[in-house]
Amino acid sequence: MLIFNDKAGLGNYLAAHSGSNSAIGFVPTMGALHEGHLSLLRQSVADNTVTVISIFVNPTQFNNPDDLEKYPRTLDSDVKKIGTVSEAIIVFAPSVDEMYDGNTQSAHFSFDGLEEQMEGAHRPGHFDGVGTIVKKLFDIVKPDRAYFGEKDFQQLQVVRKMAEKASLPVQIIGCPILREPSGLAMSSRNERLSGEDREKAAFIYKTLTETRELFEFHDIAQIKKYVANAFGQYPEFVLEYFEIADEATLKPATVKLDKKYRAFIAVTISNIRLIDNIPLN
Ligand code: PAJ
Repeated sequence: MLIFNDKAGLGNYLAAHSGSNSAIGFVPTMGALHEGHLSLLRQSVADNTVTVISIFVNPTQFNNPDDLEKYPRTLDSDVKKIGTVSEAIIVFAPSVDEMYDGNTQSAHFSFDGLEEQMEGAHRPGHFDGVGTIVKKLFDIVKPDRAYFGEKDFQQLQVVRKMAEKASLPVQIIGCPILREPSGLAMSSRNERLSGEDREKAAFIYKTLTETRELFEFHDIAQIKKYVANAFGQYPEFVLEYFEIADEATLKPATVKLDKKYRAFIAVTISNIRLIDNIPLN
């Protein structure tokens, strides 16, 4: 398997190996890979002649230094997992200096208000950091298609908006959320949960599936109250937000109109922050 640590090396290799008949698929990640990441890779391998995965824990998208420091870094086992999908996948694992050249700062982006909701409101600067690194990575890899999970639905919409506004020649492809047998959405952060907390965390998805049922006959205020009460029973959970939002604008809804809605949630368990979402209609 080819592993590049420098952008010039990867850029030159891709320029030499991608002719007019080839298509480059790209899966950006922060490593600590699980089946959710591998499902994106499998989709890219199926759709493209070349697949590149990046593994880079991007400092500018972390608003919490402790979260950045504790983020798992497991390159060797990540590379083994990638090999189980295909030995032909190209890995890009740069250092912070290679990506930021001594200037670990975000550019500022407008995503037409998408960045102001939910994760954007609770993690100041987060989507500027995501936009900065995704743009840098796209400039190096020049993908035809890039794959993002619906697990981070707001991120997926933000990246779509960035590609649209900058007329980037890349197709952004959203991929379904992979879950553990308990229903808990797979996440690199799950590795940091104790066994007990990991079991309890299944309550997040259980509650989301209930909100999908409630959505048919109850109004949004009632559903929000239901969720707040449900989490209120468990002192070990801190409910950061629960919102029902229009999929396109991500603006929290108060009444149901003829639109596609999703429920979004962020919960902290023992200081580990988990997010999830579910389509409601
Ligand atoms: P990371 O959290 O490593 O996720 C990489 C990709 O995997 C994202 O598109 C994410 O939505 C997807 N993913 C994570 N868990 C998933 C699951 N359970 N099912 C399906 N897909 C899942 O998201 C990032 O990294 C970073 O913000 C990044 C885009 C790499 C920029 O730094």
